[in-house]
This record gives sequence, structure tokens and C-alpha cells, in this order.
Amino acid sequence: MQFHGSHILSVEQFGLADLSVLFQTAAKLEPVARGELACDVLDGALLGNLFFEPSTRTRMSFDAAFCRLGGRVCDTTGFQFSSMAKGESNHDASRVISGYVDIMVVRHPQMGSVKEFADASLVPVINAGDGPGEHPSQALLDLYTMLKELNRDLNTINGLKVAMVGDLRFGRTVHSLAKLLSLFKDIHFSFVSPAELKMPAYVVDFLRARGHTVKETTDMIAGVANSDVIYATRIQEERFESIDEAQRFKGSYAINSAFFDRYCDSHAILMHPLPRDNRSESCELNNDLNSHPQLAIFRQTDNGLVVRMAMFALVMGVEKDIETTFRPVRFQKKLIGA
Ligand code: NCD
Repeated sequence: MQFHGSHILSVEQFGLADLSVLFQTAAKLEPVARGELACDVLDGALLGNLFFEPSTRTRMSFDAAFCRLGGRVCDTTGFQFSSMAKGESNHDASRVISGYVDIMVVRHPQMGSVKEFADASLVPVINAGDGPGEHPSQALLDLYTMLKELNRDLNTINGLKVAMVGDLRFGRTVHSLAKLLSLFKDIHFSFVSPAELKMPAYVVDFLRARGHTVKETTDMIAGVANSDVIYATRIQEERFESIDEAQRFKGSYAINSAFFDRYCDSHAILMHPLPRDNRSESCELNNDLNSHPQLAIFRQTDNGLVVRMAMFALVMGVEKDIETTFRPVRFQKKLIGA
């Protein structure tokens, strides 16, 4: 694919060569993400960060990524503070905002809506989650994390055994991640969910058509056994008819430290797109795992920053200038307790 000037709406746009370019760019930017070097390769550029659904890490990491590269950000959150509350269409909102900024990031509750923004926009649009559809930047940072955690690369990830657990029906992160992993060979997918929250058939068919093994089960113990990666997800209560309906699924696939030690491969890494639902009835990944070395969730969020920086650099077409614009930082980020 050509990154420069393109919308990023789906992982289906990516091939292995694109992942290689993206991850090499991300690796170059790691010292900037950690605050050890400054970089102003996006000096003068403006991001429109539009979030019409709740978000902490995706919104803030896209924002921080753009700022860390020297750009500036204007944003809007929620429908109630935008003209959409007055009946404005996605088309009109997008066309208007694209006249103000150089690139947009959009999250919206309806599947397909971010494409509507892209179709009306004068500037590139990155999909930050379109309802139960896709979440490509999350899948990219998830894959980047898997490679780092498992000490593999794009050529040695073939044969990976991945268990995806929880709400696979409404969880857009697993839709994107499964499709992205299908670029490799012989991936063993184990989908663990309540029968009502199974991975959509279109995703399963897509994976099988590419020759991968897909096992679907409601049995947690069998489902996670021998996996290299266990990817837990939150019950997406906001996509159910009512919270009560979602409530009955909560806690059915909770992993705590005793469960991990007993039923999971000791080398398996535990991932989650976050937020974890920390309420007592849920706890997909229990707090008693917080200092467990296999719990990768916070390294995963750290990787989100650098992967999103790389996406911006490539889509804005400035990746060649990254290293020439490196300069020393004026102050050193001090990590407390590090
Ligand atoms: C996810 C999302 O919004 O799809 N969060 C995120 O972006 N990291 C997962 C979730 O909300 O459960």
C-alpha cells in the first residue's frame, strides 16, 4: 500500500511489506516515545482528533503521538458538544473539519461510519474504531507487541497459537487482530466465548479461506491450553440492548493468577486491548496478575504510542526526515521507580 496521503480504515489494506515499513519506523521512534529524544518532523501540522465514543488510551495516545512529533491537535469528544447533536451528517462534519486540519482520527459507534468520514474528507482519515467493525491501529500495536514479547519477527511468527477470549462478537479489536494475523502462515486461532458472543462468521470464514486453523469453544480451560498468546477482552456492554443483558456474560472468562499458573503455558503472554473491566463481577484479567511478568498489557499500551507515531509519520509522508529532525530534549522525563 501507499501510506502517504491514504486513509487507514481496515487492516485488510496491509501486506507484510507494509508491516515491515511500519514497524521499522516505529522502532526508530522509540526514543522519542520514551521522551529521550525530541523530534519535530510534524512541526506546523494539525490533527483533528474526533471521538464520538468513550476512549482514554486511543484518544490520548493518538494525541500524544502527534504532539511528540511536533504537531498540534484540536479535538472534539461526544456528540453532545458537536453539531451532530443538531442533526449534521457525517459527510458534512467531515468535509468541514477536513478544511481545518491536515489529518483526522475518528472513532464512531456505527460500523462503516468512519468510511463515510473518509469519503467526504479532503485529508487522510484514520479509523480509531467504528462500532463493532474494525480498530486497525489497535491490531497493529497488538502485533508489534507480540513480536517484541515473543522475540519473533515478521518471518518467524508463522505457526503462532493465539487464544482470543471473551466478547468476540462485538469486540472490534479481535476482528482486526485476527484478520491481520491471517497474513502469516498456519496460525492456530482458539476462539473462547459464550455461544451468544462468538466471533462473527465473516471473520472465521476469512481466516479459514487463508488456510488457518480455527477452533471455537465455550470451554476456557481447553481454549487457552498451549497458547503462545492469550488475548482477553471486555464484554462490550455498550453494544447490548441493555446493560442487564450484558451483565450475565460478565466474569464468565476471568483469568487470575491461580488460573494462569494452572492452565496456561508458562511462556504465554497475556494481552488485552484495555480498558479491563475492574468491577468485581468482571475482572477479565485480575489485579492479582499486575506484577506477573507474562502480563504484557502495559507494555502493550506503551507500544501504542510508538506505533501511532509511525502511522502518522508515514501517512503524512515525512518518515524520511525523522532522523534528521531528532534533537536533544530540553528536560529528561524522569521515570519514578524505574
Ligand atoms: C477497545 C475499543 O475501544 O475497541 N479499547 C481500545 O481502544 N483500546 C476495547 C474495549 O473498549 O473494550
